[in-house]
Amino acid sequence: MDEVTQIRERIDLVSFISEYIPLKKMGRNFKAICPFHNEKTPSFIVSPERQIWHCFGGCSKGGDVYTFLMEYEHLEFIEALRILAKKTGIHLRESGFQEGLSSKKEIIYKLDKLAMEFYHYVLTSHKAGKKALTYLKKERKLDERLIETFMIGFSPKDGVDLSNYLINKKKYKKEDLVEAGLAFYGRGPSTSSGQASVLDFFRNRVMFPLFDHRGNITGFSGRAIEEPYSGGKYINTRDTLVYHKGSMFFGLNTAKEEIKKLDKAIIVEGELDVISCFSIGVKNAVAVKGTALTDDQVALIARFTNNICLCFDKDDAGYEATKRSLPSLEKKGINITTCIFDQAKDADEAIKNDPAAFKKAIKKDIPVYDYLITKTFSAFEKDRVYGKRKIAQELLPIFIRISNEIVKEHYLKKLGRELDVSLDALAKEAEKIEKKEVVKEDVFISKKDKRSRIEVLEDYLMSLLVQHDNPKMILERSLAILRDYKFEIDSYQKIISELADYFKSNSKFDSRYFLNLLPKELTATFDKAYLFPIPSFGEDKKHAEEVEKVARELRALFLKNKIKEISDNLRKGEKDEDLKKVNDLEKELSSTINLLGKS
Ligand code: UTP
Ligand code: MN
Repeated sequence: MDEVTQIRERIDLVSFISEYIPLKKMGRNFKAICPFHNEKTPSFIVSPERQIWHCFGGCSKGGDVYTFLMEYEHLEFIEALRILAKKTGIHLRESGFQEGLSSKKEIIYKLDKLAMEFYHYVLTSHKAGKKALTYLKKERKLDERLIETFMIGFSPKDGVDLSNYLINKKKYKKEDLVEAGLAFYGRGPSTSSGQASVLDFFRNRVMFPLFDHRGNITGFSGRAIEEPYSGGKYINTRDTLVYHKGSMFFGLNTAKEEIKKLDKAIIVEGELDVISCFSIGVKNAVAVKGTALTDDQVALIARFTNNICLCFDKDDAGYEATKRSLPSLEKKGINITTCIFDQAKDADEAIKNDPAAFKKAIKKDIPVYDYLITKTFSAFEKDRVYGKRKIAQELLPIFIRISNEIVKEHYLKKLGRELDVSLDALAKEAEKIEKKEVVKEDVFISKKDKRSRIEVLEDYLMSLLVQHDNPKMILERSLAILRDYKFEIDSYQKIISELADYFKSNSKFDSRYFLNLLPKELTATFDKAYLFPIPSFGEDKKHAEEVEKVARELRALFLKNKIKEISDNLRKGEKDEDLKKVNDLEKELSSTINLLGKS
């Protein structure tokens, strides 16, 4: 047995996944809310027998313990393997699995680390970084300790130094630098080999490395220090294999322990907001880097806490970002607060003005919905009828999205009181909005679910068959109903005939043994059918009846399609005046209609 298999066998998938998300028993399987996409009803299924998992909701991901860990922690196979080897105490002997051999992602991590060290050295110890160092110390009031903690650096103005260092000294390839987002192909003088030369992506900027929560550097943001800024005040690493815009936080690596300890995360906009918070001992702050929270970011932070304080800039953009972040947070059922400081444009400035007042504001954070009420009521006249309408238009769509019913009713009531209108009126308006949203969602779903009725039924039938305790009997009964039915999903047709073969020499069904006999390319389809959530029927008889019902409907649909096909051919035959053909087809048609009547 190879090490990969050995490790897989050593781990119980159900208890492994339970360490990450709560699992609930459901028949012979376990289910959970899928951690890989947003959903309200659980469609993530784990099979203890088969030691596999699958999501039957929006994301349709699935696999074994390796794929789960890879998905959950955004790892490459080799990284997941090393972690699981350590966990099981199995020593990896095969040379391919040892440290030295690097995947593309690992090369990028290594390059980013070297780049970080390079930038940091330039800032702290080289004359090229002097101006930037003065800027950080004098204008941004950062001390050496903070510069070390966040490993801040500086990218020199020349725009070739980093590339030269990585290529000439560290012997990395140009392509790798470009793939890491650290360099781009420039039009500079070609080398003797005729290759295009590369230029540094970041130049003349203060560099903030972006660590993921496991401590890998995935990219950078660079802040210009000289006006006018060419290319914007901040520039971020473009999307690479390891950097995805809107899926990480600046500062999470340093903040995550404190977030867990305090069971709260403070979300600010920028790098310098995080660093200023840290400097006054507020160590649970992370930055979204100038946008609203995305579903990915919410999923990430929700792993550390259920309580989030939104502390965006106090301008219109910050207010909009606050509102736009709410649906994602509500979908995860997170408690959302915000903190009030009015005299400053952002956390960084508030801290510079009055650190003690800022700390107090953080301690006295208020539910975000109270803040929205205050803001909205100060913007419109609540005593005038159209003012009331405006206020309701602004707040109702937000309040009806609150996931907790008690919290939701609390705010609807409060809104009613403040506007002096009945809860009934608000509820009616809310209903109108909800209807509009439902329609929107329905359209979305029907667009996505393009599966025909036949395909849906075939999925269901297949699952009913392979999940029955006695598939032999039930397969025979359905085959008797289906007769010459041909599955539209080809792999089902194949699995069915494999099953029929299997039962020629076996009476009991052993899924593991059967899988050994099944051609490898059918395994995934079989596993999916084996995990697909079906109703619990209580007794075998009910289960068998359901199978027969589905088989009959499929057979009927099959015959109807056949009738349509024959009729089409018949019409063609009549046009061509092919008498023999017409005669044959008419016979076939009537016998098929007959069959449909009997089925
Ligand atoms: P702000 O534009 O609010 O910056 O962007 P700021 O707080 O005034 O910045 P400082 O304090 O002068 O340095 C907030 C954050 O949004 C991201 C950056 O992460 C920044 O810290 N941002 C901003 C970008 O990614 N690109 C931009 O062009 C601007
Ligand atoms: Mn700001």
